[in-house]
Amino acid sequence: MAEDLVYTSFEMAAEIGGDIAPAIYANYFARCPGSQALMSHIDDIVRGKMLEEVYRLLMLDDYREEQGYLNFEIKNHKLAYSVEANMYGNLLAAIQDTIRSTLGDAWQPAFEAAWQQRIGDLTQEINARI
Ligand code: HEM
Repeated sequence: MAEDLVYTSFEMAAEIGGDIAPAIYANYFARCPGSQALMSHIDDIVRGKMLEEVYRLLMLDDYREEQGYLNFEIKNHKLAYSVEANMYGNLLAAIQDTIRSTLGDAWQPAFEAAWQQRIGDLTQEINARI
C-alpha cells in the first residue's frame, strides 16, 4: 500500500509535539461556538479517548468497515449529547490545523491535499448520518 500521508503527518506531529490533544481542543473550542460548553463535563481522559477514535477514522482510506461504528456514534452524539452538524467539520479542521502548525516547516503541500481528501471523505460519511 502506498504511504498514507495523513498517517505520516500524525506520526511526525507526535514526534515533534508529543501529546497534541490539548492544542487540538484549544483550537477547536476557539473556532466552534458551543463546543466547549458541550464538553465541559468531560475530563481529559475521556477527551483523549474520543480524539483517539477520531484519529483512527482519519487514518483510514476506506470506511466500509466503519459503517456500524459511524451509525452508532453519530446517532448517539446527536441524541444523547446534542452535537450539531457543524461541530464535526470544526473538529476535523482543528485537528488538521494543529498538526499543520506542529509540523511548521516540515508541513508539505502533499499533506494539504491528502488531508482535504480525507476530511472530505469522512465528512461525507458523517453528513449522510445527520
Ligand atoms: C467523528 C467524530 C467523533 C467521534 C468518532 C467521537 C467519538 C467519541 C467517543 C468514542 C466518545 C466516548 C469516549 C469514552 O467515553 O471512552 C465520545 C464522547 C463524547 N463526544 Fe465525541 N466523537 C466525535 C465528535 C464529537 C463532536 C464534534 C463533539 C462536539 C462537541 C463531540 C462531543 C462528545 C461529548 C460531549 C462526549 C461525552 C459524552 C458523555 O460521556 O457524556 N464528539 N465521542
